[in-house]
Amino acid sequence: MKALLVPKKQAETLRKQLLEAGYMDTRRRLKVRGNDLEIPVNGYVPPEFVRFPNINQEKPEYYENEPTLQDLMKTYVDGDELDLLPGGWQILGNVVITSLHPDLYPLRAKVGDALLTIYPYCKSVYLDGGIKGELRRPSREIIAVREGVDEPSKTVHTENGCRFKLDVTKVMFSKGNLNERARMGRLGRDEVVIDMFAGIGYFTIHMAVHGGTEKITAIELNPESYQYLVENITLNHVEKIVEPVLGDCAENTPVSVADRVVMGYVGKTHQYLPYGIAALKQGGMLHYHETVPELLMPDRAMERISTEAKRQGRKVEIVHWHRVKKYAPGVWHVVVDARII
Ligand SMILES: C[S@@+](CC[C@H](N)C(=O)[O-])C[C@H]1O[C@@H](n2cnc3c(N)ncnc32)[C@H](O)[C@@H]1O
Repeated sequence: MKALLVPKKQAETLRKQLLEAGYMDTRRRLKVRGNDLEIPVNGYVPPEFVRFPNINQEKPEYYENEPTLQDLMKTYVDGDELDLLPGGWQILGNVVITSLHPDLYPLRAKVGDALLTIYPYCKSVYLDGGIKGELRRPSREIIAVREGVDEPSKTVHTENGCRFKLDVTKVMFSKGNLNERARMGRLGRDEVVIDMFAGIGYFTIHMAVHGGTEKITAIELNPESYQYLVENITLNHVEKIVEPVLGDCAENTPVSVADRVVMGYVGKTHQYLPYGIAALKQGGMLHYHETVPELLMPDRAMERISTEAKRQGRKVEIVHWHRVKKYAPGVWHVVVDARII
């Protein structure tokens, strides 16, 4: 359990910053330690806060008497059915997104109300029906909303100091890609980058805010995601760095200009490899995402990059690969970093 050890005088300012940026672990209490305060944090803390020691909290204290979903649902559900209640959910800004066992669907409104009780700062709860199609559109049903709320599906989500405006019924925001988004934010200093599947700016905004990138061309096909991409560029004050492009990256990716290309899409990413590789200058870096069956991992992704590079008369140096998240039983979302020479 991590905490930042901060002098008492600076603690309140820092507590606000950490909370606003989404790094604070709000389940734990702040604790006094000599002249310092321990501010509980979720784990990764970016460089601007690293001036304070990131310690392991010896005796974390939790806020007590907070009801669990099980506690709140005991009136409506009993016995084994309590085990069917969701054990986790996603919070984007002030919107909760949860899945639900089909047997509990008739009780969805009660589950929604219970989640709003647990999260007093949240305004609505949506049931997740998965992400579909080429444009990665989510299927979501509202199950609870606070009185007087006008736009229950619109929110601003903060992650690693980046702000993402979105409508949870129109665009996705993957919980499992969090570390990969943070990693991209540490790359690209003084570089020209192309983000071929930019969405609302998942990678682009992290790179522009934290990476010190010179220029990013962010290409997005879905007009709704593109609209939020444009808004998020303004919200994060990176208009001078990011050029948004509405369209198909197969038609809009420039050739031989990039130091780095991000292909953050899964399913048919390999079909776009010709454009991703052609976009790179000699020695440029490709971040190629793919969903790969466990038995073919990571070879299939690497072979696809090598085959296309060879076809273009270029060489490949595989620098790194890792799993981003489990995609389906026996299938992993992986990313391969390949230098194209
Ligand atoms: C949702 S993002 C991937 C998620 C992201 N990696 C993350 O961290 O959450 C993929 C985006 O690619 C867009 N897309 C799909 N095909 C495209 C194409 N041919 N050209 C440009 N964008 C495309 C989709 O509309 C979608 O917004």
